[in-house]
Amino acid sequence: MEGEEVCGIVAYVGPRRGAELTTLLVGGLSRVEYRGYDSAGVAWTGDGSHPIMVVKCQGKIADLEEGLEGIENRLSGAAIGHTRWATHGDPNETNAHPHRSCRRHVAVVHNGIIENEDLIRRALRDRGHVLQSETDSELLAHLIGEFLNGDPLEAVRTALETVQGDFALAVIFRDYPDRVIFARRESPLCIGVGDGEYWVASDPASFMEHTRKIIDIGEDQLGVISASADPVIVDFGNVPVTAKIEEIDWDIEEAEKDGYEHFMLKEICRQPASLTDSMRGRLLPEGGVHLGGLLDHRDVLQDMQYCVLPAAGTSLFASMVGEILIEEIVGVPAVARNAAELANRQHLVFPRNTVFWAASQSGGTADTLSAIRRAQALGHRVFGLCNVVGSPVSRETDGGVHLHAGPEIGVASTKAFTSQVLLFQLICLYIRRLRGQEDLPWMGRYLEEMRRIPKLAAGVVAQSDLIRSLAERFYQGYPSFYFLGRGILYPVAMEGALKLKEISYLHAEGYPMAEMKHGPIALIDERFPTVVLVPQGDDHYEKIVANIREIKARKGIVIAVASQGDDRIAEIVDEVIYVPRVTYYLLPILYVIPLQLFAYHMAVLRGCNVDQPRNLAKSVTVS
Ligand code: M6R
Repeated sequence: MEGEEVCGIVAYVGPRRGAELTTLLVGGLSRVEYRGYDSAGVAWTGDGSHPIMVVKCQGKIADLEEGLEGIENRLSGAAIGHTRWATHGDPNETNAHPHRSCRRHVAVVHNGIIENEDLIRRALRDRGHVLQSETDSELLAHLIGEFLNGDPLEAVRTALETVQGDFALAVIFRDYPDRVIFARRESPLCIGVGDGEYWVASDPASFMEHTRKIIDIGEDQLGVISASADPVIVDFGNVPVTAKIEEIDWDIEEAEKDGYEHFMLKEICRQPASLTDSMRGRLLPEGGVHLGGLLDHRDVLQDMQYCVLPAAGTSLFASMVGEILIEEIVGVPAVARNAAELANRQHLVFPRNTVFWAASQSGGTADTLSAIRRAQALGHRVFGLCNVVGSPVSRETDGGVHLHAGPEIGVASTKAFTSQVLLFQLICLYIRRLRGQEDLPWMGRYLEEMRRIPKLAAGVVAQSDLIRSLAERFYQGYPSFYFLGRGILYPVAMEGALKLKEISYLHAEGYPMAEMKHGPIALIDERFPTVVLVPQGDDHYEKIVANIREIKARKGIVIAVASQGDDRIAEIVDEVIYVPRVTYYLLPILYVIPLQLFAYHMAVLRGCNVDQPRNLAKSVTVS
């Protein structure tokens, strides 16, 4: 399964040079800036008589443009550019791409993750390489430089033989200033075909204003573009691949959204990929868990006696799931708390050895930061679960995990929720092992299902059209909705209600199912639908059925999200969406997807601005 793409690559060979080449690279990079940006850079070979030149900077493409001011005329030869959204190392100038080999005769831009990074880094150091950055990508420049022996394509192929992980890369060589070598595995890359000029890019948006002719580079392929010959593509066994030129028949805006109508829909539908990325290199084949950001804190985790999970919005609901996971898998009491409420309390008292787990997609939420600072001032250790590397949460916490879910652009958070829930599970399993707690009989199945969760999520996403038909029935004439769940699905019900209200502007409330009869049921009538989350095999299944009957008895409409194969539920509710049966702890990941899609389709049908709903910002940086 392909990973979620987070950085942008553009490379060029052809007659353009100087200011024209600068504009082409900068323009190409700004077309993919929507994928996320924290740093950017370009490199070029010139005529091969000097080391490869690099200009890079922290910040946006506009900052790169500023950095190139006054030297635009120097750009010539083969050129590569990159816009980065950090997954390894801080988003600073040193970690920005392109990266060069020690002798500055090779430069690389890379998207993806090198899984055996530690091993390669140690080996290169042992062989005398001086590494500048904290990135895995720099290792590729050094490796390729080492293997270069008269054939640049062969050097890239041999270097990649030692690499485990994903890559899309473009490489230039001082001694071969007429060509760019490229390679891909599980990370998209394509060639733009011009008239005597070629591009290699992670996204055709980078070259579409110059050419609409495209060659898609296949999985596990590498090759060469040069201005004087047709592109050459081979597989890793050096067998030539026939390049097929196609015509792009969509526009740039569509390209950014990968053909989806909105970023939110793209982010919902790409959850199989973001979940894969969040798990990659962490859930080990033998069932162990590797979390590099917690390695230095093993003593604290061993002694941990209480957990507090401060967060806001969707991250708070993911933390409410985290609370249950910590209590049940690790056996340590835990509580999710609204970050602002926690930070504003005058007196805070927590048991000794309390550990804080602060989840935040953006890492910039002021309320969450206040809670983190408050906890640290009280002397507690704080770990983050954050998507944006280099963000305040990721800098200020004592350790933690990055979500690796890729940039989330839609204001309504979707894929961050499923990645946070997944990472809470990995954290719990990691701590459990660390504390010497033995595996329980059901855990084998749990781990096996966790590995399959991206695939199972893909099956749920595939029901988008069905959920749209459901939304077609409800988008008019139903001003309020309840979302009900029990146990681990209660936070999911809260999240479903939040999604609906924030993008479709309908009134929605999430409740623990049993709470209905304590008041909320008074509002139920034939115009007030209720979405119920019903997992089969749940100890409380019969109680859920009884709750549904109570709503039906008041003429309420019930929409159920239920387990595949649960035919009984279909007989008592009005509408049902099925999701696969999985271990209890994984339910939130599968049950939230229909709710995200329901909110999305309702909002679209109601003509709302899905990606930028009124009154909201992606990151709430004021408290
Ligand atoms: O970036 P964070 O996860 O810290 O953001 C927290 C909330 O502001 C965020 O989840 C917000 O509720 C979203 N609009 C929900 O879709």
